[in-house]
Parts: sequence; C-alpha cells; structure tokens
Amino acid sequence: MSLQDQRRAYRRGALDDAIAQADPLRTLADWIDEARAAGDPEPTAMALATVDPDGQPSVRYVLCKGVTDDGLEFFTNLASRKGLALAHEPRAAVTFWFAGLERSVRITGTTRQLERARVDDYFASRPRGSRLGAFASRQSQPIASRSELEAQGAAAEAAHPEPGPERAPAEWGGYALIAGEVELWQGRDDRLHDRFRFTRNGAGWTAQRLQP
Ligand SMILES: Cc1cc2nc3c(=O)[nH]c(=O)nc-3n(C[C@H](O)[C@H](O)[C@H](O)COP(=O)(O)O)c2cc1C
Repeated sequence: MSLQDQRRAYRRGALDDAIAQADPLRTLADWIDEARAAGDPEPTAMALATVDPDGQPSVRYVLCKGVTDDGLEFFTNLASRKGLALAHEPRAAVTFWFAGLERSVRITGTTRQLERARVDDYFASRPRGSRLGAFASRQSQPIASRSELEAQGAAAEAAHPEPGPERAPAEWGGYALIAGEVELWQGRDDRLHDRFRFTRNGAGWTAQRLQP
C-alpha cells in the first residue's frame, strides 16, 4: 500500500471542556496507566527533543521514570549527545503517543539535573544487566565493532561482582523536565481532533482549546 493511502479514523475518545479544569500532569499520569491497561507495550516511552550547541534540533526516545507536580523525570548518560545539548540549552520538549487510545501529550519546559540521591535511588531499582550497561557504554561515542562493545560489557561485569554495581557511574544521571506548557490531544473523526494547551499560571494552569 502506498504511504499516502495509509490512514485511520480516530474515534476512540473525546476531550470535553471539563478537562480544562484538570491538572494536565495528573492527566498524563492517568493516561499512561490507561495506555498500559489497554495493552500499550511501552506507555512511558516519550520522544525527547533537544537543541545541539550549533542550533541543530535532535530527537530520540527515552523512558519517563516519574511524573511529579512539576513535570517529569528521565535517566540517561550526562555525556551523551542529549546530555551535552542540555548542558548548553536546558530547554527541551517531549511528546508521547498512545496509539491504542489515539492520544498524544506534548510538553515543553526546562530541564535540570536530578539530585544524586534520586539518581542512586533509581539506579538501585534497575536490574543488574541494565546497571552494568551504564558502565559498559560511553553513550553516543563511536565504537569500532560489536565485539568491542561486548568486550566492554564483559569488563564491566568483571569489575562489578554480584550483586553490584550499587552506584551509578559519575557520567550517568537523570533530568527533571519542569513543564511550562502541556498539550493534551485526543484524535477525533474527520481530523477535528480535541486539543487543550495548558500554560503555567502561578501554582496552577490556564487552559485553552486549540484548533486541530
Ligand atoms: C523505547 C525507547 C526507550 C529508550 N529509553 C532510553 C532512556 O530512558 N534513556 C536513554 O539514555 N536512552 C534511551 N533510549 C535510547 C535513546 O533513544 C538513544 O538512542 C540514546 O539515549 C542516545 O541518544 P543521544 O545520542 O541523542 O544522546 C531508548 C530508546 C527507545 C527506542
């Protein structure tokens, strides 16, 4: 089938005006739960956009590991491409797509590095293989071959006998994205989708319905 003939009608839900009174970050947390319950295999996956020091935008998926009153949290290598971009330009954007629910959430805001205690706490919750992976990979750096990467994995395993490693390497950490703007999107029939944009207003939010 040609790509231009690929299309689907969105009819699984609607956002009525009452959503404007809701806290959009709590709604995001609810939507993640609903997507999980509906069988979404990766409901916490979000595309994270950053801007490189030369102004080039770059986007990749990361997993959302917490939704707070202020925004959300994710973990990564601080010296990766995204880490270097955020050190230069802390403003960032994320978007979620919950395909089964025909919903999307967009957030823009400013990132800050998470405190070491939060990083250690999350790191300790990861399976040993993932913890070792943080030591085995200098994320975003080129490497000559798969076998070299596997050798780095073996070296990390040898250096950290079970049940370690307990603490993350210094270059591994996390970010809070403090949300300044949140958009909730629900697909509707005939492309007349429901969109509500929430903008920070003191301790609360101001919401506006947007044209699709
Ligand atoms: C579904 C999914 C989830 C991912 N989650 C993370 C994550 O939580 N943290 C992370 O560093 N990379 C994650 N990755 C890998 C990133 O997309 C990316 O390849 C990596 O972080 C390097 O990006 P960078 O070179 O732009 O820094 C994930 C990839 C996918 C497809």
